[in-house]
Amino acid sequence: MNKAIARFRGRDVVSTLDFDKEDLEALFKLADEYVVNGYKDVLRGRVMSSAFFEPSTRTRLSFESAMHRLGGSVIGFSSEEATSIVKGEKFVDTIRMLDSYSDIIVIRHKYEGSAKLAAEIAEHPVINAGDGRNEHPTQAMLDMYTISKLKGSINNLVIGVMGDLKYARVVNSFLLALTIFKPKKVYLISHPLLRLREDVKKLIASRGLNFEEVNDVNLVLSELDVLYLTRVQKERFLDPLEYEKVKNAYRITAEIVKKCREDFIILHPLPRVDELDRSVDNTKHAAYFTQASLGVPLRAALLSLILGGVH
Ligand code: NCD
Repeated sequence: MNKAIARFRGRDVVSTLDFDKEDLEALFKLADEYVVNGYKDVLRGRVMSSAFFEPSTRTRLSFESAMHRLGGSVIGFSSEEATSIVKGEKFVDTIRMLDSYSDIIVIRHKYEGSAKLAAEIAEHPVINAGDGRNEHPTQAMLDMYTISKLKGSINNLVIGVMGDLKYARVVNSFLLALTIFKPKKVYLISHPLLRLREDVKKLIASRGLNFEEVNDVNLVLSELDVLYLTRVQKERFLDPLEYEKVKNAYRITAEIVKKCREDFIILHPLPRVDELDRSVDNTKHAAYFTQASLGVPLRAALLSLILGGVH
């Protein structure tokens, strides 16, 4: 474990690609240790800033729960309205303050590049908990962790990524994380107006990911080991009419899922809206609640490794 601490200690988490396979394996190992043996008081006296300028349920609360479970404490806010930004304070000054009040900053913001900027300003480590439509690296870590736990490995799997591939930051980070492993094939399943952006496509292609774009999940469902589903990201659309065109473009139901393989699993970062019917919850394929619950041990492992609190 000392080697893992040395790899993580004091590091920022800005992009999924800041980490390699060995890093992720060390992270998953410590998360497993917390799942099996419970948490240790290794971050007593340490303070985490929870700086959420954008809404969040799972990411914020799992980070905060993780910090508390490790004996640390949390300061922060969960909306921009609760900060002096509304009085005209600049983002960089807010980050400077958080940096002087805490040992690590977890930040979510609507602007792409905000976490990178915060990491440049802050002396303490900064974790990107979502920057606009760009990235959400700790979600991708959690997604990879969940898949490896439930399927044994990510290598050789056929994985479908479905939904709003254009605006969902979780999709970008999920695909970048897949390039670190060796899945057999990735299907990008979306309405033509929600296709993955060209820059992301180029990046994953250059990193050797074997992917294909399809419009209809029914064409590939029987081949899939994993389906990663996302909601349409209403808040990112510049044109409300464009949103209206795609808001009901897809919906996974228990009926559709019947055509899948026995051991097929569905992941979803949540929140869901209408794209994932509740009828799926009672099938053995629903893995999204397990995925959400693993957020605490995974983020505890990350905080512990970065802050050097592993005993
Ligand atoms: C995601 C996000 O904020 O990007 N939520 C999450 O962190 N689990 C996905 C989403 O909002 O659709």
